[in-house]
Amino acid sequence: MVSEVRTPRLAVLLEPDWAAEALVADVRRGLGTTPRSLPPKWLYDERGSLLFDRITRLPEYYPTEAERSILAARADSIAAASGASTLVELGSGTSDKTRLLLDALSGGGRLERFVPVDVSEEILRAAADQIAARYHGVAVDAVVGDFTLHLSHLARYPNKLIAFLGGTLGNLYLEERAAFLGALADAMSPGDHLLLGTDLVKEADRLIAAYDDSAGVTEEFVKNALLVLNDQLDADFDPDAFGYVPFWDSRMRRMDLRLRAEVPQQVRIPGADLQLELAAGEEIRIEISTKFTTDQIAAELAAVDLEVVEQWTDVRDDFALTLARRG
Ligand code: SAH
Ligand code: AVI
Repeated sequence: MVSEVRTPRLAVLLEPDWAAEALVADVRRGLGTTPRSLPPKWLYDERGSLLFDRITRLPEYYPTEAERSILAARADSIAAASGASTLVELGSGTSDKTRLLLDALSGGGRLERFVPVDVSEEILRAAADQIAARYHGVAVDAVVGDFTLHLSHLARYPNKLIAFLGGTLGNLYLEERAAFLGALADAMSPGDHLLLGTDLVKEADRLIAAYDDSAGVTEEFVKNALLVLNDQLDADFDPDAFGYVPFWDSRMRRMDLRLRAEVPQQVRIPGADLQLELAAGEEIRIEISTKFTTDQIAAELAAVDLEVVEQWTDVRDDFALTLARRG
């Protein structure tokens, strides 16, 4: 078979103007009212994506290597069970672990197309170029998009496997998660498969260490939310005036990552026409990271008519990969 290097195509569903408006709306809604919060998708500008990449290599941050070990052991079975000709990846980032799936699917001879979807254009372009250079003959149709808004775009691809790795599902709030899973199931046709990576509930001290690493990279990543607002909305946040407060919420079974104003302060956000008066001790929630049980995942998928084909965990039962099928 003749194989060729194809130039990746890039569909931009998040036009810069639209993204700027969405950021303003999220900032007004999230910071203009209490309790204050911001959606975590805004963490991933170029700097944030690079910081996340550093997090994945921290000794305390176990999810990446745990998921990689499952993929290394199971990618061939996943490829055979799915028989997919298109691999879609949501929140693809560097698509580093995804190569294990791409190897298995292309080794089976059926893979025609890879569709990485991410809000972060810089990281998406770099990953798409690397994948296109490595997997000759595979069309790379990258999508700059928001997986909470643009899943219907995926309905056009028949016979697909949708990978949602890294535990990113856990960054959605409960209501968002239910809406997301419903929209995902709607974008799938009978016989399509989902491969979902989720972090599992475990001892609080290991969870806290994973989100409060000794090198301070996670703190820098979370504080990047403030720098994004400084860059994009001309805000004048001083990240050093905030403490980093990561804690395990055992009732909601999620890590809760917040920034706390160390001193009373006034912050101007001209791009959102907003001025904040923060009292000492006031907190802004930047991200949650929900942890699951395998039964809970199966139940949430069943609720949207996705039937579990198989679930695998790593040797320490830290992380789960679930393969599900649209009936
Ligand atoms: N899947 C990779 C990266 C996880 S980091 C891994 O397993 O290591 C989360 C990724 O999701 C980032 O690349 C971020 O830019 C992207 N992301 C976050 N929210 C998103 C959204 N709403 N829509 C699309 N991509 C999103
Ligand atoms: C992308 N996501 C699954 C990461 C997580 O573990 O929730 C983001 C992260 N935030 C802090 N560290 C890692």
